[in-house]
Amino acid sequence: MKQKVTVVGAGNVGATAAQRLAEKELADVVLIDIVEGVPQGKSLDLAQAAPIEKHDAHLAGANDYEASAGSDIVIITAGIPRKPGMSRDDLLATNRGIMKNVVRQVVRHSPGAILIIVSNPLDAMCHVAMEESGFPKNRVIGMAGVLDSARFRAFIAAELDVSVENVQAMVLGGHGDTMVPLPRFSTVAGIPITEWMTPERIESLVARTRSGGAEIVGLLKTGSAYYAPASAAVEMAESILKDKKKILPCAAYLEGEYGFSGLFVGVPVKLGKNGIEQIISLRLTPEEQKALEKSAAAVRELVEAMKKMA
Ligand code: LAC
Repeated sequence: MKQKVTVVGAGNVGATAAQRLAEKELADVVLIDIVEGVPQGKSLDLAQAAPIEKHDAHLAGANDYEASAGSDIVIITAGIPRKPGMSRDDLLATNRGIMKNVVRQVVRHSPGAILIIVSNPLDAMCHVAMEESGFPKNRVIGMAGVLDSARFRAFIAAELDVSVENVQAMVLGGHGDTMVPLPRFSTVAGIPITEWMTPERIESLVARTRSGGAEIVGLLKTGSAYYAPASAAVEMAESILKDKKKILPCAAYLEGEYGFSGLFVGVPVKLGKNGIEQIISLRLTPEEQKALEKSAAAVRELVEAMKKMA
């Protein structure tokens, strides 16, 4: 039986995710947006590309959530993106309101779905989604680490002039300026990058990774990145739909792991048909742990700020 994925938000990230899901023939796709005509138009356009792209995924667009009923996965991209000079945190109040409203409607029609959260500020939006849905922690997952690691991987591959396929990387922490790329766990053909590059080169790639989203916002001026964010969300969805049990860095609700409780933090998890099936605990050095604590503190600050909002 074909599975069903709903993508909420028919903007650049959502529409690109819908395209990748369909073209990889992972599921039938429903695209939802509040703007009339846009999800319908984009899904019709994608459906008309299907004969050329050679897939039989069904695509539909809608403004209401009835069409999303019975989804296996719901990818939520709804919200406003950053403009140049804005941090992801500047989006907090607006996107919190949007997320609450979206999740309420998603849950009504797909009570068994796994939620993949993409909207920013990512880690805070995961808290909103978990609270509003009442879903267990294995079914609320934030997309950030896969994107941040992909950026790090792309930069490492370019620096060493090797295939991106040879490069693995691990970026933990919140999806913000304090994210924690881990060179010790980032490898080229299985060899840690610390064997390939000087600490100075690594540090410059780490810095570029941390501001990877802002670099693109600065170039685009009217919005934020979408090809790589969509790819990242779809890799997570694929691992769940196919029960592949990939280990991927994702924002997960921690209850004691890494020393954090009641907080979404980016950590390596195993993604299978039940969503998060395992949280992988890495043994960190004191410096790495300190960096992770700084990043988690930035997430907690936003969560506390939301508690004061009406
Ligand atoms: C980025 C935004 C989408 O990192 O958070 O590009």
